[in-house]
Amino acid sequence: MTMVREPGDVPSSSLVGHNEPSPVLVGRNGPSSGLASHHGAVARARPPARLRRRASAKVAMIGAGQLARMTHQAAVDLDIDLVVLAESAEDSAVVAGAPYRLGSPSSLADIRAMAAAADVVTFDHELVPSAHLTEMEKLGYRLRPGPPALSLAQDKLEARSVLSASGFPVPAFASVSSPGGVSAFAEEHGWPVVVKNPRGAYDGRGVHVVESEDELARLFAQAPPTSRAWLAEQFVDMAAELAILIARTAQGHVSLYPAVQTIQQEGICRHLLMPAPLPAPIVEQAGRMARSIADGIDATGMLAVEMFLDTRGQLFVNELALRPHNSGHATIEACETSQFHQHLRAVLDWPLGATTLRSAAATVNLIGGPDTVEVAGRLPLALGIRGAHVHLYGKAARPGRKLGHVTALGASTEDALGTAQAAAALLGAP
Ligand SMILES: Nc1ncnc2c1ncn2[C@@H]1O[C@H](COP(=O)(O)OP(=O)(O)OP(=O)(O)O)[C@@H](O)[C@H]1O
Ligand SMILES: [Mg+2]
Repeated sequence: MTMVREPGDVPSSSLVGHNEPSPVLVGRNGPSSGLASHHGAVARARPPARLRRRASAKVAMIGAGQLARMTHQAAVDLDIDLVVLAESAEDSAVVAGAPYRLGSPSSLADIRAMAAAADVVTFDHELVPSAHLTEMEKLGYRLRPGPPALSLAQDKLEARSVLSASGFPVPAFASVSSPGGVSAFAEEHGWPVVVKNPRGAYDGRGVHVVESEDELARLFAQAPPTSRAWLAEQFVDMAAELAILIARTAQGHVSLYPAVQTIQQEGICRHLLMPAPLPAPIVEQAGRMARSIADGIDATGMLAVEMFLDTRGQLFVNELALRPHNSGHATIEACETSQFHQHLRAVLDWPLGATTLRSAAATVNLIGGPDTVEVAGRLPLALGIRGAHVHLYGKAARPGRKLGHVTALGASTEDALGTAQAAAALLGAP
């Protein structure tokens, strides 16, 4: 597919301050050439501007992973022109046919070129230099969420500091830059200590549970601290992990989804249950906290607040993600409005959809193991499981990589989990 922005097409809302030529969006078949569009124009007389299709909105998304892929599906429903910034034509959203521009999220020029005609700019991931985001805002692009809110998802140390200063419960933490700093923290809070890379890590990759001085020495020998600080935090004696998904518009309208329980192994979420089978007062408290965080940080779009529940019944805020989130995938089938539709509605300041739960649900992530070759070839087997909703992300298999997910609905979350796990096992990536 090739898209060429036409001279008569203007952004549906003005974006002050960027004077670049209209971008050429690169489609599946490589850069669109003027020649091809010219031939198209000859073959079919171009209708006058007033009769030409107008998208309901134009949204630019930085990143082209599975979250962008599923946002693309929602954008199709809403007749939104979504363009994604992809690093490769193999990216998950691109292979699903999302209009894209090749470029790097570290390049301001690439981001600007991709976002040139967009009403709003939003995110599939937060790995974008903060300085670029500030500059984009100065230039008049509308970022949803804005840089101050996004910085809390970009930097765990900053998130811990801001949330604790605002009175939200977080695990005891410190900024450390040497093994001695971790030892001092352990003296006060005991072993194990959780040592985290504050920026750029996900799926547990930058999270190390350090049990002793020996382990600490090994960790710092393997990954010497850079000039940047690490986050040391107290190991939480975990009863459960949960996530609260909430959508918020720039005008401050919010909509909360039923809480989700997430089940991790080695720092990566294996499956999740919706609604979280946890005591109602805990879930209500978590919802209230998420709501005041959303307002307090001026979130726009989807916000996922990851929380820990410890064995004494105390809640702690773990991480914030200001975008659709893995813990919200069950909303596609289980809720009236999926998190991907909701994210688009929220970033565009449109009315939010109902988040009513249709049924108890469970989602199992399909994660590449050492022997996973590919999951797509096994799909027909999994589709034999009645009630299994399989979503594949179009990615090559690699150990630890999220390749897709399966959601099932059921009379209870356990029921649903049984169905989803049966299908995941047949896909060879349970
Ligand atoms: N302080 C802690 N105490 C106990 N377990 C923890 C602690 N911090 C993190 N963990 C465990 O490690 C997991 C990953 O941690 P965290 O969410 O900080 O990292 P991440 O790799 O950024 O995750 P994500 O993939 O959600 O972005 C948590 O879900 C939890 O299971
Ligand atoms: Mg996390």
